[in-house]
Amino acid sequence: MRPWTLLGVLSLLAAVPDALAVKQADFKTCSQAGFCRRGRALSARATEAGKSWNSPYSVDVPSISIAPNKAVFTAGVKSSLYPEIQFGLELRVHDDGVVRVRMDEVNGLRKRYDEAASWALISEPVVSEEIQWVAGKKDIRAKYGNGNEVVVAFEPLKVSLLRGGKEQVVLNGNGLLHMEHFRTKTPAATGTEEPEPAAEEGSEQVVLETPANPRAWFEGDKEDDWWEERFSSWTDSKPKGPESLSIDISFPNHATIYGIPQHATDLALPTTTGESPTFSEPFRLWNSDVFEYIASSPMSLYGSIPILHAHSADSTVGIFHAVGSETWIDVSHPTDKSTQTHWISESGILDIFLMPGPTTDEVFAQYARLTGTQVLPPQWSLGYHQCRWNYISTDDIRTVQKRFDEEDMPVDVFWLDIEYSEDHKYFMWEERGFPDPVEMTNDVAAVERKMVVIVDPHLKRADNYPVYKEASERGVLVKPASGDGEYEGWCWSGSSSWIDFFNPGAWAWWKDLFKPTKLASGTWSWTKSTTDIHIWNDMNEPSVFNGPEISMPRDNVHFNGWEHRDVHNINGMLFSNHTWQAVRERTNPPERPFVLTRSFFAGSQRFGAMWTGDNLGTWEHMAVGIKMVLANSIAGMSFSGSDVGGFFGNPEPEMLVRWYQVGIFNPFFRAHAHLDTKRREPFLLDEPYKGMIKDLLRLRYTMLPVWYTAFRETSVAGVPVLRPHYVVFPKDTKGFTVDDQYFIGSSGLLVKPITDKGVTQTKVYLPESQVYYDYFSHLVYRGSSKGREVKVNAELHQVPVLIRGGSIIPTRERPRRSSPLMRNDPFTLRVALSKTGSASGELYLDDGVSYSHESGEFVWRRFGATTEKKVVTLTSRDLGAENKDAAVDGVALVAYNPTKNAFAESIAAVRVEKIVVLGLAGKPSSVKLDGKELVWEFTPGVAASGKEKESAVASVLSIKDPRVRVVEDWAIQIAL
Ligand SMILES: *[C@@H]1O[C@H](CO)[C@@H](O)[C@H](O)[C@H]1NC(C)=O
Repeated sequence: MRPWTLLGVLSLLAAVPDALAVKQADFKTCSQAGFCRRGRALSARATEAGKSWNSPYSVDVPSISIAPNKAVFTAGVKSSLYPEIQFGLELRVHDDGVVRVRMDEVNGLRKRYDEAASWALISEPVVSEEIQWVAGKKDIRAKYGNGNEVVVAFEPLKVSLLRGGKEQVVLNGNGLLHMEHFRTKTPAATGTEEPEPAAEEGSEQVVLETPANPRAWFEGDKEDDWWEERFSSWTDSKPKGPESLSIDISFPNHATIYGIPQHATDLALPTTTGESPTFSEPFRLWNSDVFEYIASSPMSLYGSIPILHAHSADSTVGIFHAVGSETWIDVSHPTDKSTQTHWISESGILDIFLMPGPTTDEVFAQYARLTGTQVLPPQWSLGYHQCRWNYISTDDIRTVQKRFDEEDMPVDVFWLDIEYSEDHKYFMWEERGFPDPVEMTNDVAAVERKMVVIVDPHLKRADNYPVYKEASERGVLVKPASGDGEYEGWCWSGSSSWIDFFNPGAWAWWKDLFKPTKLASGTWSWTKSTTDIHIWNDMNEPSVFNGPEISMPRDNVHFNGWEHRDVHNINGMLFSNHTWQAVRERTNPPERPFVLTRSFFAGSQRFGAMWTGDNLGTWEHMAVGIKMVLANSIAGMSFSGSDVGGFFGNPEPEMLVRWYQVGIFNPFFRAHAHLDTKRREPFLLDEPYKGMIKDLLRLRYTMLPVWYTAFRETSVAGVPVLRPHYVVFPKDTKGFTVDDQYFIGSSGLLVKPITDKGVTQTKVYLPESQVYYDYFSHLVYRGSSKGREVKVNAELHQVPVLIRGGSIIPTRERPRRSSPLMRNDPFTLRVALSKTGSASGELYLDDGVSYSHESGEFVWRRFGATTEKKVVTLTSRDLGAENKDAAVDGVALVAYNPTKNAFAESIAAVRVEKIVVLGLAGKPSSVKLDGKELVWEFTPGVAASGKEKESAVASVLSIKDPRVRVVEDWAIQIAL
């Protein structure tokens, strides 16, 4: 959201190309950022020099020190250009095989920011005690695990991770490592002449190739924006001078890379250096509020996760660079089989984690052990969220709720955007429209629904705003470049200041604000609220309307004197962390909070959900939203979604229906709309669209058990809720670029939402010799191990959903107004037999709101189907009891408590009301539970006719009320 919209300067819906031009100019290109320009110029010089290019950095061998019995070594590093400057290198091999490489300047003029990892990591990783470093003449190396080896070459410095002798990741293999050391401004540099204007894109600086001047040969021959930098009307004072960090990270045996969200682009990252498909700018990580962002661009968006997966049919490896400053990443492919990336950061230390895989699941687990998993959300937050900027009054909310109920459309959450608050002083209700907020919330909560209300980080500088006053008195606001007083900027609330969450002095106070009761301490708290209100943190990049690139000046000062430039990308995470804790601790015992954040960093998955920000109501944005959600998912942020309908614009009914089809298959499912758009709540549509959307909402609700089960898995194992093809079929090279269809958890549901106008049919890619069933029509599709595309019907009322043969899908099919009302509803099981007649599936349940699951109060079942001697046996087993320690070691151990389990007792009577078996070879002769015949019905399959391979229909056995309960073990025999 941006101020122009309110000021009416820009017409939102018209002239998108003009709007794009306006927006792009607000944000820097690489050539407009001094350090990025320097980094790219370094790379250009290296390319030009070819083989003669030599990294000046080398390990100072006598300084090597190896910790006794530990896989840690430290060494000094020198640059031949500046022999007087010292750098320190440290390598640690963690006990799960992850290698951490750190390098910092030692005894420098100043200290580089080295705390990014401390915010991202859940704890200090355990270092292996088994691995021994072996130092040789040219390198030091350690072998470990399944054929892994890490090698640090001394001169020049190069760090490689190998597996089976093959290079997986190489740092500084191309000699682009450069840690600009702190220096004093020399008289020459203070001269009157301006640094030359930014080099035009594509042009290179003159290279002095005199060996006599190796510094110029390596660094360039001028102090390009070292001491001060301008952009548009802003000047960055850069008091610390140049301190950027450049490093090349190569994957010599991996042709495809994924990650570094968030960007509006393909999941398999395009190149940025002129090859095709390509961008010409590097991918940028600088959390930004980008107005009407472009649907295909390497530009920065609201969040940054500096993680990459490099993938080949042989292995997956990952890297995570714990850096919180602005970072640009060039991507290129030196050969068909390899990938090279070049990371250029404005400040901070080098702190890179090499995650050896070798499978995608292991990379997910390795990353989860570092930064934590997606926190298990309250179950209701997987329902439908209805948002709009703005619902204008408590009565407006009541009317919207009534209309949903009249149309029998399920919804769990109503949202309030900024206009609920008086003058955008968050927490303060705008009394005319919202005279009775507590009563409104109670009305919503009467059917177990919730409210989500926005709380942004900018505080109106007003004496009548207790939140600002108290923050100011405590001295916990971000400071301007001078380091004194309060930074003042412009945002929704007019003249505003920002809480500095890097200051621990803000933490307890912030948490207290959300208490719905009066505090003994006498500090202000939100008494006009209830524990049914959860929170939306927007604008936390932070967005500052009158700041450089719509954010804070980089020379602003945070706690401990760190500059904003050092911590910018981490900033938004600290805000959502403390809001999450605040909401959690409103009650005793705590309840699971829901917090949505726009800005995020590595680790933000621990604090809730994110969404892809202010998207446009266009087909392109609908399509790229899917790719963005997939990219966020593989980077740890599973609880993500893009706004249904698009924030800007008035989508036509067809587009809106398709957008709901996308939305119901996003982990986070919210409809949202801009202030200037026409109302578009689903009940406002005409038929047939209204009925279609109602069916989609209900479909989402029937599948909530699938979603919740997938969230359990991600919360303990790190493997994402949405799984793109390379994750599920890591050896299928054709699927590496597939990013418009994906699987939901381990359920076997494969979806391909339609994101084009006028579609009646689509192709779904099936890379295995397995049968897939259409979820609705039971049409049968056969894949091939060579990869095959099958035609699937996709008229407007149809969303392509296939069940992978071998899966069992648990659903709850009774329509309810909200998801908590389904807690005692019976289950339906869809058993989709594989081509060999087997299937399995999981169901995880707990109370959905408390933390009692952490002490073992949950139900976790495995359903199975096996075929032996013409008998198909369906079973239900207690996975909780069998897998006491089923979590990935060290990630999140959940101990199951089979004896004292109040939750399981509370749903003891819940039945399985129907079992549908797809793909039986023929009509059964009997279907029995404990020797007694059950009530069932069989519809024979239809063989494929003629050449149309897709016309076969599966046989369907429908067992009605099989008299089994969901918490019990049971076995049903189907005799053929
Ligand atoms: C979250 O907050 C706690 C204190 O409330 C703090 O210890 C922790 O470092 C914070 N983490 C992040 C990522 O903000």
